[in-house]
Amino acid sequence: MKEILLGVTGSIAAYKAAELASKLTKKGYSVNVVMTEAAQKFITPLTFETLTKHKVHTQLFDGNFEPNVHHISLAKRTDLALIAPASADMIGKIANGIADDMLSTTMLALKDVPVLICPAMNTAMYENYFVQQNMKKLNEAGCIFLEPTEKLLACGEVGKGALVDIETIAGFVDGMLKNASEHTHDVYANVGKEENSEVHEAAGKADDMAELDLEEIARAEAEKAAENFEKKLPKTIDLSGLEIPED
Ligand SMILES: Cc1cc2nc3c(=O)[nH]c(=O)nc-3n(C[C@H](O)[C@H](O)[C@H](O)COP(=O)(O)O)c2cc1C
Repeated sequence: MKEILLGVTGSIAAYKAAELASKLTKKGYSVNVVMTEAAQKFITPLTFETLTKHKVHTQLFDGNFEPNVHHISLAKRTDLALIAPASADMIGKIANGIADDMLSTTMLALKDVPVLICPAMNTAMYENYFVQQNMKKLNEAGCIFLEPTEKLLACGEVGKGALVDIETIAGFVDGMLKNASEHTHDVYANVGKEENSEVHEAAGKADDMAELDLEEIARAEAEKAAENFEKKLPKTIDLSGLEIPED
C-alpha cells in the first residue's frame, strides 16, 4: 500500500483537506496526516484520524519514546508528499530550509520523494514577490505546484487564491504515484503555467493513464499467479487405467 504524507496548514481551506484525506483513503492509499498548530485552529486532528484510521502527527516532540525518530521514519516510508492547503508560511519555510515544526521538519527529511504542493491564500499574499520566489525555488527543485483558482475568497475579495479542487489533486496524486509515462511528467512540468481547465484535462489524462497502467499490472499479476499455481500443483500420476503386465 502506497503511503501518502498529507500536510495540512493554517488556511481557511483546511476543512477541504478532510475530503481529500477521505478520497485518497478510499482509493486505497495509506494517508498519514501532519497538521501544523495553525491548521488545528481550523479543523481538528480527530476528523482526519476518523477518516484515515491513522494517528495524526502534530508534534515534533510528542513526549512518547519511539525507537525510531518520528519525523525521519515518517519521511522514509513516504511514497508521495502532498501539502494541501499550503500556507505562504509553510512554502517559505521549506524553500528556505527551515525546520521548526513536525511538517516542515518531515518535509526537509524527504529524499527522492515526489512532492505536490497546493497553495491557498489571499490573492495579495499569493502574488507577493517573496512568496512567488519561494514557489519558484521549490518548483525548480522538482516540487509540483497546482495553482490556486480564481474565485470569491473567504477574505471577501475575488481573485486567485482558492485551493484547486479536490478531484484535480487526487488525479495528480494517482498520476504521480503510478508514474504513468514520460508524457505525464511533461504535463506536470507545465501545470503551473496552464489555465485551470487545462489542469483538469491533464489530471484526467493522468488518471486515465494510471487506470490503464493498473489494469495491465493486474493482468500481469493474474498471469503470474496462474503460472505459480500450476507449478505448485502436486505431481500425481493417474494409474487407474494402466494395464500392469503380469510376469
Ligand atoms: C482566518 C484566517 C485565515 C487564514 N488563511 C490563510 C490562508 O488561506 N493561507 C495562508 O497562507 N495563510 C492564512 N492565514 C495565516 C496563517 O494561518 C498563518 O500565516 C500561520 O502562521 C500559518 O502557519 P502554518 O504554516 O504553520 O500552518 C490565515 C489566518 C487566519 C487568521
